[in-house]
Amino acid sequence: MKRNGWTILLTIGVLVIAGTAFCAAPSEVEVVEEEVILTPLPGPQPRLNNPTVFGARPGNPFVYRLPATGTRPMTFEAQGLPESLTLDAATGIITGNSPRQRGEYPIVFKARNASGQAEKQFKLVVGDTLALTPPMGWNSWYIHLYYVTDAHMRQAADILVSSGMADHGYMYVNIDDSWSKAEGQEPYRNACGRILPNEKFPDMKALTDYIHGKGLRAGIYSSPGPLTCGKFAASFGHEQLDAQQFAEWGFDFLKYDRCSYRLIENGESVYEYRKPFAMMGAILQNVNRDIVYNLCQYGLGDVWEWGAQVGGNTWRTERDLRAASFLRTGLRNAAHAQFAGPGHWNDPDYILIGWLGHRPAREQGPTTPTPLTPNQRYQHMSLWALSAAPLFFSCDLTQLDAFTLNVLCNAEIIAVDQDELGVQGRVVTETDDYFVMVKPLADGSKAVGLFNKTKSRQTIRVSSQELQVAGKQSLRDLWRQKDIGLFEEAYETTLERLGVTVLRLSSAEKNH
Ligand code: GAL
Repeated sequence: MKRNGWTILLTIGVLVIAGTAFCAAPSEVEVVEEEVILTPLPGPQPRLNNPTVFGARPGNPFVYRLPATGTRPMTFEAQGLPESLTLDAATGIITGNSPRQRGEYPIVFKARNASGQAEKQFKLVVGDTLALTPPMGWNSWYIHLYYVTDAHMRQAADILVSSGMADHGYMYVNIDDSWSKAEGQEPYRNACGRILPNEKFPDMKALTDYIHGKGLRAGIYSSPGPLTCGKFAASFGHEQLDAQQFAEWGFDFLKYDRCSYRLIENGESVYEYRKPFAMMGAILQNVNRDIVYNLCQYGLGDVWEWGAQVGGNTWRTERDLRAASFLRTGLRNAAHAQFAGPGHWNDPDYILIGWLGHRPAREQGPTTPTPLTPNQRYQHMSLWALSAAPLFFSCDLTQLDAFTLNVLCNAEIIAVDQDELGVQGRVVTETDDYFVMVKPLADGSKAVGLFNKTKSRQTIRVSSQELQVAGKQSLRDLWRQKDIGLFEEAYETTLERLGVTVLRLSSAEKNH
């Protein structure tokens, strides 16, 4: 049966009493999880959704689209914007070059429309560190696999804006594997050694110009091996030239995927795992473009322990995510919390709550919906946000329904992920049935996630001790964006099957 909800059929088993089988005719009980939209839609008045801090390197090209919800037309203002940057008051897009002078530039953004106005702090930190909050965007992999084209990328940029995702901070539009020439399609490079895109990408510079024109940023993919995982030309032996080329084309993000580098390695050791990533990391520090660096080597050699040292801004901690195992992957990723911080984040892979691409990966075919139930989709997004994970949606942007957008675009959930303190949430309690995760936030409050692992409704009780809070706390339900009262000793709530609640706890004591 297919309704607006998600139907799961459970077969009731055979009851055996004293050796006699009482066979209630095997019947099926339907458990329906409706796609309940929990979050109120953004109102008409402006709301600025930018993180409060953003990193840039001195003098490099800069593009940033102020993420703001509310009815258009809207006019934007930026007090304290460095002179080398210009804000387009009608679009909220900032362009130019970041200041040459290192330092912190406090800026106040303002947005105004017929329904009201909003303002929010922003601190541009000009120095060596990018990705002061986890990067957000969209990646082509799980939907377009090896058939991604220039047109897909442009369409992705269009939809990030038209769907409102960009108004919530989704910013990077990233090509994954298969933009370079396929094995056998030599020459892979021109006479000067410059890597060539394949026929699906006629003009990389024009593509990034298009993406930047929307105030968004563009990402590209390569491998330290001779070929990518899909057997397309990659960077081995041409690292410097490729980094330069990516910068000249205008890319702002590089996913660097181990793939065929394993054939180059001199045995397996942390030294060997680090080597190619450190080489590219050092090169990227010196190109004239802010390129966020994403290490993809599936957690080998405990990459969380050294990813930041080799210049990585994010590193995948696991093999490719299968939607159905998001909880296991997310929990394993949570164990590395101590290694995350501003500029360097654990990456449990992309968000898989929409329509996924067709396999075999080389032909475009029918898309299939995520196998996750509606409640699991809330859990997936909650777990990623509490984990300060990079937030990359990697499903079909042309099939975004209201429910998926609601899960992806809750400003208060995203604010947990993007919090300036940059502390990854930790699991404070875990049983077979549920777990509790706590993420401290910059203003002294805490985000708390309560996750039901089971397929039955259950009541969960957490104590202030477990949550390491003292005194009266005011509670806000972040999915519903609603204050729900006070608690002092313990908090108890009932979670639906596979359900989640994300709360923000702030001290309600006076003088706090
Ligand atoms: C895998 C990687 C995926 C995707 C794929 C492309 O190694 O983990 O995220 O990039 O390669 O071939």
